[in-house]
Amino acid sequence: MAKVLVVYHSKTGNTEKMAQLVADGAEAAGADVKLRTPDDTTLEDLQEADAILLGSPTYYGHSAAAMRALLERSVRLHGKLEGKVGGAFSSSHNIGGGNETTVLDLIHALLIHGMIVQGFADGDHYGPVSIGAPDERVSEQARRFGEKNARLAAKLTGS
Ligand SMILES: Cc1cc2nc3c(=O)[nH]c(=O)nc-3n(C[C@H](O)[C@H](O)[C@H](O)COP(=O)(O)O)c2cc1C
Repeated sequence: MAKVLVVYHSKTGNTEKMAQLVADGAEAAGADVKLRTPDDTTLEDLQEADAILLGSPTYYGHSAAAMRALLERSVRLHGKLEGKVGGAFSSSHNIGGGNETTVLDLIHALLIHGMIVQGFADGDHYGPVSIGAPDERVSEQARRFGEKNARLAAKLTGS
């Protein structure tokens, strides 16, 4: 059973709803899922996970400071997260408001950790993005994202 860690920051609940859908998708694929906020995430949580999926609201085209703080803490694990599965998702207020740059901002950090990031040939290519709270389309994307990343982690770990 793959271990999937979903870490989200959310001030008004939109990214939290996405995170729950991502977790539901990963669970449906048979993963052992932990849902955490950045402040509650320990370095052990990061090290134990086979897949780490990060969700943040879009703040000026980037991730929230709380998520940056976790990434900065994670430098203590530099090199130890290599080969794990990674992915990201974001909620913004506007179409064209920077949600994809936020996802890519998070993916950059995951790649620097040496993680494996899966793109999506259809739907949201970089990771699920939502305008405000997830609607039906985003809910489907978020569940599928959780499911596909959980399956990839299971395949890579042979679990
Ligand atoms: C400090 C701050 C900066 C923001 N910057 C943007 C932005 O650049 N583009 C945008 O579309 N929305 C922006 N928003 C809106 C949030 O991304 C949006 O409301 C999001 O759905 C909030 O997610 P949450 O409910 O998980 O906190 C900003 C909100 C805050 C508080």
